[in-house]
Amino acid sequence: LNVIKAQYVASAVRPDQYPPEELPEIAFIGRSNVGKSSLINSLCRHHGLARVSASPGKTQTINYYVVTAKLPNERRLEWYLVDLPGYGYARAGQTQRRQWTRFVEEYFLRSPRLKLVCQLVDLRHPPQASDVAMYGWLKTHNLPVQVVATKTDKIGRTHVARHLAAIKNGLKLETGGIIAYSALNGQGRDDLLDVIGQILLK
Ligand code: GTP
Ligand code: MG
Repeated sequence: LNVIKAQYVASAVRPDQYPPEELPEIAFIGRSNVGKSSLINSLCRHHGLARVSASPGKTQTINYYVVTAKLPNERRLEWYLVDLPGYGYARAGQTQRRQWTRFVEEYFLRSPRLKLVCQLVDLRHPPQASDVAMYGWLKTHNLPVQVVATKTDKIGRTHVARHLAAIKNGLKLETGGIIAYSALNGQGRDDLLDVIGQILLK
């Protein structure tokens, strides 16, 4: 997939705010600060498309970006990348956390064109309880999941395999591999675009 255009479309906290155009969707979920918004910018090679912050809790709504890619045969492919608020943000109030959980779960259950959920985990740490719970929830609801380990650039090359194994164990990953990603240097970008392309062209 050769991404040629990416653009912000809409923000939502309720289904009636979801954009009306019927495009396939690829969503990104993970703990606050894990790098969801950065990954979207890196996939689209578009700095500042999704807002990024060093402090957690930046993304507070469901944000849709429409992406256009060109295939080798000149065909064009269009879909939404959907940036979700992170979970596990300690400083958010309990009411706010409960509200995020509610509208994110509602998004997962009421998005018939959702093709893939990319669950992001930080490659540096074993998955936390909230990561395990999220993965279990997605599997229970039969949603296709691709696990992506972020911030690979912060781990020495020789340690990457060991950290990936720890994540696989911690999540009790059923099938499929984990993509090690760096929004800083683009590592894993081609692999993730391949996975997205295969799913969209199925
Ligand atoms: P919320 O919106 O709060 O849920 O966070 P998020 O998951 O969208 O994280 P965001 O993309 O805002 O990134 C959080 C911080 O991690 C920022 O300071 C980013 O610059 C940094 N970051 C994200 N991805 C990477 C990466 O691959 N490598 C490095 N070194 N830093 C990263
Ligand atoms: Mg974000």
